[in-house]
Amino acid sequence: MRQAGRYLPEYRAIREKAGDFLDLCLTPELAAEVTLQPVQRFGFDAAILFSDILLVPYSLGQRVWFVEGQGPRLDPISTHADLARLTPKSGEERLAPVYDTVARVRAALPRAVALIGFCGAPWTVATYMIAGKGTADQSDARLWAYDDPKGFARLIDILVERSARHLVGQLQAGADVVQVFDSWAGMLPCEEVRRWCIEPMQQLVAAVRRDVPGAKIIGFPRGIGAGIVRYLDHVAVDAVSLDWTADLEFASCRIPRRVAIQGNLDPLVLLAGGDALDRSIERILTAFSGRPFIWNLGHGILPATPIANVERMLARIRER
Ligand code: CP3
Repeated sequence: MRQAGRYLPEYRAIREKAGDFLDLCLTPELAAEVTLQPVQRFGFDAAILFSDILLVPYSLGQRVWFVEGQGPRLDPISTHADLARLTPKSGEERLAPVYDTVARVRAALPRAVALIGFCGAPWTVATYMIAGKGTADQSDARLWAYDDPKGFARLIDILVERSARHLVGQLQAGADVVQVFDSWAGMLPCEEVRRWCIEPMQQLVAAVRRDVPGAKIIGFPRGIGAGIVRYLDHVAVDAVSLDWTADLEFASCRIPRRVAIQGNLDPLVLLAGGDALDRSIERILTAFSGRPFIWNLGHGILPATPIANVERMLARIRER
């Protein structure tokens, strides 16, 4: 989940210096520095690369920018002519600064601290490419998939291919593991999840492991609920990240023990702190004790989160 970001004053200082968010992602010296900041402050066991899932559409020639206080914007793709303007055969070199960042971070981190690379899942990235921004229900992408499944599949195929190359680039540059964020998996009916989330993810995992055998991969099909069982039946991830709505008992019974669980504290309870935070931590640690488990939030950390609450959380986990 996002660790750097707006809750840390040292991040805000560099962000101001860099100006544009995309420039920050594409300036290895600064991106490496903000990747390391949370590890330096809190002594985390892993760092997550500072980057963004929308760098993949950027590498495909789509214009991407971030509006202060509003989030990402892209020139929306709405026709076959727009699709034809994407550059699946070129543009990969636009991601070279990311691999440079990975190499710098890996060199600076102690060996025992893991570096997590990432990309967005094809479905989730497609929702931003089609709407041109984040939306409440991803209806533009869902409509395209219903109206024109062949055209939509073309976009998904392009994303599978470029995302696989992007993950391989990060692994070869020194990432120890990669996570695939399907933040909007939970917005699709069951059958559509199979077609637009599970199948592309199977292809993505296979393509990455063709180039990097044994690559360690974490899946994050956010909001998928009980669909997690089918997802794990078909997608050979090493670990699964659970969002904060996941049923702990269901997850601990139904997720095979060969798959490590990561998650799933509600970012809002971390912001709230106090007894509510302590109780949530206890519940999660108890539910997943005795099996491979990675402590994490159930989604990105909120900018208003008090740093003292993060410290309290870490102290409680580490005293167990
Ligand atoms: O925190 C980190 O350094 C980890 C790197 C990271 C970022 N984005 C940096 C970021 C990761 C793993 C992401 C993933 C990402 N980006 C996702 C998938 C996970 C999720 O959150 O569901 C998505 C959907 C995006 C697209 C994106 N990027 C959005 C919707 C936004 C705006 C968020 C908001 O609340 O305004 C971003 C911007 C972004 N990406 C920030 C960071 C630290 C905030 C940038 C800033 O204003 O300084």
